[in-house]
Amino acid sequence: MSSSRSRAEELRSKLNRWLHEYHVLDEPSVDDATYDRHYDELLALEQEHPELVTPDSPTQRVGAPASEKFQKVRHLTSMGSLEKVTTDESLVKWAEDVQKRLDSDEPVAFVLEPKIDGLAINLTYENGLFTRGATRGDGEIGEDVTVNLRTIPSIPLRMLGDDVPSLIEVRGEVYMPLSGFRQLNERLVAEDKKPTPNPRNAAAGSLRQKNPAITASRPLSFWAYGVGAHEGVELRTHWETLQWLKQHGFPINPFAERLESIEAVAKACQEWERKRTKLDYEIDGIVIKVDDYDQQRRLGALHSRPRWARAFKWAPMTATTRLEKIMIRVGRTGALNPWAIMKPVTVGGVSVSRATLHNEEDINRKDIREGDDVIVQRAGDVIPQIVGPAGPHRRGTKPFKMPTHCPLCGAEIVKPEGEVMHRCPNRACPSRGLETLINWVQGPADIDGVGEQTVRTLWDKGLVRSLPDLYRLTKEQLLELDGFGEISATNAIQQIEASRTRVPFSRVLLGLNIAGIGWVLAQNLARHVGSVDALIAATPEELADVEGFGPDRAEGVVEWFADEDNRRLVDELRAIGLNFEADESDRPVEGPLTGSQYVITGTLESMSREQAREALEALGAKVSDNVSKKTTGVVVGESPGSKVAKAQKAGVPILAEDDLKQLLAR
Ligand code: IVH
Repeated sequence: MSSSRSRAEELRSKLNRWLHEYHVLDEPSVDDATYDRHYDELLALEQEHPELVTPDSPTQRVGAPASEKFQKVRHLTSMGSLEKVTTDESLVKWAEDVQKRLDSDEPVAFVLEPKIDGLAINLTYENGLFTRGATRGDGEIGEDVTVNLRTIPSIPLRMLGDDVPSLIEVRGEVYMPLSGFRQLNERLVAEDKKPTPNPRNAAAGSLRQKNPAITASRPLSFWAYGVGAHEGVELRTHWETLQWLKQHGFPINPFAERLESIEAVAKACQEWERKRTKLDYEIDGIVIKVDDYDQQRRLGALHSRPRWARAFKWAPMTATTRLEKIMIRVGRTGALNPWAIMKPVTVGGVSVSRATLHNEEDINRKDIREGDDVIVQRAGDVIPQIVGPAGPHRRGTKPFKMPTHCPLCGAEIVKPEGEVMHRCPNRACPSRGLETLINWVQGPADIDGVGEQTVRTLWDKGLVRSLPDLYRLTKEQLLELDGFGEISATNAIQQIEASRTRVPFSRVLLGLNIAGIGWVLAQNLARHVGSVDALIAATPEELADVEGFGPDRAEGVVEWFADEDNRRLVDELRAIGLNFEADESDRPVEGPLTGSQYVITGTLESMSREQAREALEALGAKVSDNVSKKTTGVVVGESPGSKVAKAQKAGVPILAEDDLKQLLAR
């Protein structure tokens, strides 16, 4: 029995340590299987000897019975709220007021923390043990949600360390990470239930469940940002408090920082407006607190809003609006791209009326229909996303279906096996031709002086309908277009002319828009075959050896060159003087980044992933899809995938978009 007791104690302390490492420090030291094995052993031991169960046992996080009603509890000290500021000027004015109320020459330091959009809670610990947790309520009286809070793995059931105070109220925010929010909504929609409109509501709804098992199934997390009543510990500054909380096992937001001037604070707030979209949780502002507790006390509060703190706030990033119509655009490789027209709505301070919808599968998985009220999410400068329908009482009647025929040329739409995109197979499809031209001048040929608008106008006037047409364009024709004068027309024609010989073979291949052949594969292909004649003569078996190819891609390329229209196009372009033989410029570039290898994940703000890849490759770096020990760095955009975790595990450095820009500027 005593050996059971000590084994239970050992298991408990190990499991609690591992939970802390995993959920608070983000540095797991054991794998899931090891954790599970120990957990199961403790559970079995406790079932055999119920007297060994302690309140801080990890097995006690779930399993409390569902409650009828939440009890009201009075907080030991009240939970205030924050006065907000929305501009630099009002922030500085606040700091001036703070200084005026204190001594004029007294130094004032500030602590900044992201303002997580979740819900405030109050956790009471007695002699280190978590005994009660409550919502903020009206600030004086909240609801007892202890059993639900116990299910949140980043909330310690027992504080770490030996020097625990006899009593302390720990305050913080319960929130739902964005990745978890999206998954939850997908699940709710799949179960024909109403999705949650934003992560804040999702967190609040999850925490106020009558059945703790449901709360346990929700991906909730916690950040501590302060203390209320406390006995048996002395804390002098907010910054000190944060460090103390961290030492005692509480998760503290890693971006909290202490700054010594309001100018530095204002600058940091500006930077956060941009940076906030990189996080896996929503923040609606920055909280700024006077660091020193004695200064806080002297400043006091007005209507439960402390004079020593402000919330610097931005506009919300999600909104609900009507999806009016789903439109289709035919891309340059014939892919059908659905996009949404919505009733204009302000999201994150910007009016939004369009969103991309990816593909049919995605639309139907989210169950978005024309006429529905939908939840729109915007992150930074990226194109808005539709998260899902906004309510159970939908207006949309018909599930979305891709057209069976191309909306532009009427050709029958195909959906190749194993692909998610529908395609218009007609290479002469007008939309496809237009997109090919736009791509050519912006991408492979990079013709300065001829942009998307010019190409559209030339297309509308019937002057340019194919790549060869572009090279037959005259200055006189350009002069007839709005916005062109003698100088700009001459320049544009010169640029087009120069591109005949300037564009290397691999880029010409890229410009042909062979499905699935992007920048790197075009380069590999060009180097492997050496010339277009060799390419035309190649068999699928030969091409399957090209780096990054396989039988399917090889087959696709051979088919493309077997097509009569395509061959005619190649002949015409060859006659025009475009490059159809590989040379120096098709070699992998030697540059300052030669030998390094990068992975790009998530959506970047200032460029597409493809552009980032090109820019890195232009400096000699390799860009691959998989993180490995050889990876030099992982560039992380907004909504990144599992590659971030892999990188962290492998100890590979993580680069934000700004870091990437610095790297490219070198
Ligand atoms: S301190 C006296 N710090 O903002 C007020 N609040 O309006 C003390 N919040 O209800 C609050 N992150 O839900 C504080 N780092 C942070 C916060 C934060 C989010 C929320 C919290 C509170 C509201 C204040």
